[in-house]
Amino acid sequence: MQIGIIGAGTMGSGIAQVAAQNGHSVVLIDSSDNALSKAKLGLQSTLGKLVEKSKISQEKSHEIQANISYSSEFNSLENCGLVIEAIIEKLDVKHDLLQKIESIVSEDCIVASNTSSLSIASLGSVLRNSKRIIGIHFFNPAPLMPLVEIIPSVQTSSDILAKSVEIIQGWGKVAVVCKDTPGFIVNRVARPFYGEALRIYEEGKADFSTIDWAMTEFGGFKMGPFTLMDYIGNDVNYAVTESVFEAFYYDPRFKPSFTQKRHKEAGFLGRKSGRGYYDYSDQVIDVTPEKDEVLGKEIFERILVMLINEAIDAVFMQVASPQDIDLAMTKGVNYPKGLLSWAQEIGLENVLAKLETLFQEYGEDRYRPNPLLRKMVRENKFFF
Ligand code: NAI
Repeated sequence: MQIGIIGAGTMGSGIAQVAAQNGHSVVLIDSSDNALSKAKLGLQSTLGKLVEKSKISQEKSHEIQANISYSSEFNSLENCGLVIEAIIEKLDVKHDLLQKIESIVSEDCIVASNTSSLSIASLGSVLRNSKRIIGIHFFNPAPLMPLVEIIPSVQTSSDILAKSVEIIQGWGKVAVVCKDTPGFIVNRVARPFYGEALRIYEEGKADFSTIDWAMTEFGGFKMGPFTLMDYIGNDVNYAVTESVFEAFYYDPRFKPSFTQKRHKEAGFLGRKSGRGYYDYSDQVIDVTPEKDEVLGKEIFERILVMLINEAIDAVFMQVASPQDIDLAMTKGVNYPKGLLSWAQEIGLENVLAKLETLFQEYGEDRYRPNPLLRKMVRENKFFF
């Protein structure tokens, strides 16, 4: 099957590589010639490194490169069986593009979007045949991250869903199916990792490095929240939080943080700007966490139960199955354990007790234990 990818930026070029590595002939389209040549050079360099490390042969590298044609000409999409758009995150621009794609491809071509924040239903609304729209959401960097969220909308046919899952699994990816709801699985369930950490900092309970230390030391997370936000970029991470907050009709659980907003406004974007929560200017991170075990465990447990409560809400609201929610967090954002398995390990009753304490202390909706958690504890039920 020929695959079309529109947008040769960070995501589009990565997805094109994945498809080409799996033997597909790929048409990579961008409106900018500069983006196309950057993508071509980027792939050459990536594959060159893989050859050097003997991860792939020289022939395989040539084969992958030969599988991709770079174009600014949309007519070359004509014979594609699947087109994935990965252009700028703007609804009206994506609408125009999707209509253009539909006017060229055949009737049975799957039309997919890699959007992180727009609803698939709204994207599909402009298609003549909206049954063919689907969200196929890769994680950055696409060639390395195993997870792909597959999002059928209310219009999507079951046949298109089944075919999409089959293709993505065929590429060696872990496909999880989720409802067309804001943030899908990962960008919804992961919010407290950042939000609760920022809240703990704002309350003056601990500084950035102590919170990061607590999460890596007691939780086994590869990076603490502030180090991770500095990697992602405070502008990007804040934008996701804000869009999820708005999309959930301003549910206070997802309220963005002033601290992050101010960092973003100050240009403290993280590693890419040389300064975020930490200073990267001379490559020396001169921060010492306060390694107080009692405080560290309290911070870790508070953030963990908030994450678990969010994962349980995603089950409660039928966003995805418990299995897929755990897979999404381990394969999409490298969590050390699936949150629902983790909840079972520490005991659902203990998670509930911790949330009840927070809820009583703060009286805020943010800490309200999910009704499904209460029910499962009452009925002594388990996710797995
Ligand atoms: P990017 O800015 O790196 O690349 C976008 C590319 O699209 C640019 O090369 C641009 O020239 C091209 N483009 C813009 N409008 C176009 C049009 N009308 N026709 C053809 N080409 C056009 O963006 P990035 O980060 O790759 O994001 C692309 C999509 O993937 C967005 O929808 C984003 O939400 C989503 N996404 C991004 C992730 C990330 O970590 N960057 C992760 C997962 C999804």
